[in-house]
Order: sequence, then structure tokens, then C-alpha cells
Amino acid sequence: MEKEQEKKMRELSVAGCEVIGEGAVGKVYRLDDETIIKVFAPGVPLEVVQEEKRIAKNAFVAGVPTAISFDVVKVGESYGAVYEMLRAKTLSAFIRENPDRAAEMGKRMGRLLKELHKIEVDTNKFVDVRALFKERVRRMEKFLTKEETDKLTAVYDCLDERNTVMHGDFHPKNVMYSEKNDELLFIDLADMGYGHPLLDLGATCLVMEVFGRATPERSPHFIGLEYKTSLEIWGNILSEYFDAADIKEAKILADIYGQAKFALFPAIIPNMPQNDVMGFVMGARARGFLNKDLDITPALKTSLKF
Ligand SMILES: Nc1ncnc2c1ncn2[C@@H]1O[C@H](COP(=O)(O)OP(=O)(O)OP(=O)(O)O)[C@@H](O)[C@H]1O
Ligand SMILES: [Mg+2]
Repeated sequence: MEKEQEKKMRELSVAGCEVIGEGAVGKVYRLDDETIIKVFAPGVPLEVVQEEKRIAKNAFVAGVPTAISFDVVKVGESYGAVYEMLRAKTLSAFIRENPDRAAEMGKRMGRLLKELHKIEVDTNKFVDVRALFKERVRRMEKFLTKEETDKLTAVYDCLDERNTVMHGDFHPKNVMYSEKNDELLFIDLADMGYGHPLLDLGATCLVMEVFGRATPERSPHFIGLEYKTSLEIWGNILSEYFDAADIKEAKILADIYGQAKFALFPAIIPNMPQNDVMGFVMGARARGFLNKDLDITPALKTSLKF
């Protein structure tokens, strides 16, 4: 099947193309004035690349402000997805150059996310993100106690059903800012699906606040900003997204979903050695979702409206 698809696939070379971005799964090159290509690391299966492109296309069609996606191509031993080149810079880069605008941009991110969470989608065209997390719980089950599995399951089961879109990895390096149009755009839609807004807010909290608690010096690597700036922006996202009276509770809830996502991290790493998974689980017991002191009652009892 893969071979059949490859025959029809356009081949491209990125020799001499400028690298404009580098991330966890590969490199982004400028192809010409109109297009860029995201080349995935060798070994990333064709289906993964096609799936990211499929999500990006469906998102664009559903009205999500993002780049137009073109085709999937072969680049040497790797696959790549071709996208419209956004005439914009990452919001991280913009804030590094304009630190006095961090708070304003945090608020705009909050509004952008809230608008995104209003977009209803055809659930046949997007992934059910809660189901994905519950599948991760199942994969982790053999490393966890029954209480731990129940605690993880409970935070996902208590969310109401939604058919609205969520980004899945929303932070200032996955948002681009066009100064010309004064517009924010989403990129990096690999984790986009439909589901409760708290799943999205949790993912953002994880990257912008939780990671930095233990290792603040790593914040520039994750989101391209100092931890202090990250916290300031996250605070502004929350203050724009929620009514003043709800912010404190919202922050606690986002933290719970962020910690839960982190505890399930080994489930997304292909063939992670069992000892490494156990080491990770011990860490999450020492300080994290699996710690006895991490109380999930706020999630189970919340009356916050989304
Ligand atoms: N459509 C685009 N137009 C212009 N620049 C882009 C575009 N898409 C991505 N970039 C640049 O490439 C960088 C990496 O892109 P992206 O976030 O999609 O990949 P990634 O972080 O490697 O992905 P992943 O999180 O899946 O590993 C961005 O931060 C941005 O600078
Ligand atoms: Mg990215």
C-alpha cells in the first residue's frame, strides 16, 4: 500500500533551501516565496505525515485560522508536508523582540483559544481527544496501581461530551503573528481534535507552567521564552478566557489536566523500555498526577461553565 502511494508521490529536494524552523519531529524549510515544507525525521511513517496534513486541511476548511496545506511529498528517505508560507513570525519570536507586548499577546491568545473552542466540527473528520487520552490510560495500566488508573480515568470520564475543536499543543511557539495583518494564526496541528476545552487548557498549562516548575531554565527550549514571561502570558490567557471570579479555579483545573497529560507521556513513546516507563511513573508519584497529594476533586466537582 505504502509503495503504491509512493509511486504517485511528488519528490522534492530541499538542498539549498533556507531552514526556517526546527522542532521535535523534523525541520521546516522555505521552498519558495509562497510555500514551506515540514520535513519529518527519517523513520516517521508516511501515515503520520498524511494524518497531520489531513488534520490541517480539515481545520482550515472548518474555519480555523491556519496555513493552507498542499501535498505530502518524498524528500530523500523522509516525507514532508507542503504548506502555504505564512508571512508571520512565531509569537515567541515576536514577544522576545517586543517584551512590553507580552501581556497584550497573552490576552489575545486567550481570546483566540476561546474562539477556537466555539468551532463545532464533524466528528467523523477529527479525532476524539478524550478517547485518545483514555487509550493512553489503558496502555499505562500495567505500570500503575488500580487507584492510579481509576484516578486518571475519573478526570477524563467527568468531562462532558463536546464536538468543538481543540488545538492540543497551544503555546506561543505554535502561534504565528502577522504584523502586517495584525493577526494570530495557529500552526502545528498534529494534536488537533475535538473535545472539552479543559483538555486544551491542560496541554497549555503543562508546557507554559508545569514543565518550568522543576526546570525553569528549559523554558526557552520548549516555548522560546523565559519561564517568567511564560507564566505572565499563561496568566493573561486565563484572565481573558475566564471571568475574574473563575480564574483561580480554572488555573487549578488546567493544572490537573496538564499533570494528567504528563503522567501519560510514556504511552505516546513507541517501544519505551519498561524500566524507563517505571522510572517515569516513580517521578509522577514523587511530584505529579500520581502523587497522593494531587487532589482531583476540583475536577470532579467543578461547576465552571465552558
Ligand atoms: N506555514 C508556515 N509558514 C511559515 N513558517 C512556518 C509555517 N509552519 C511552520 N513554520 C515555522 O516552522 C517552525 C516549526 O513548525 P511546527 O511547529 O509545525 O513544527 P514542530 O514544532 O517541529 O512540530 P512538532 O511539534 O510536531 O514537532 C515554526 O515554529 C515556524 O517558525
Ligand atoms: Mg511546533
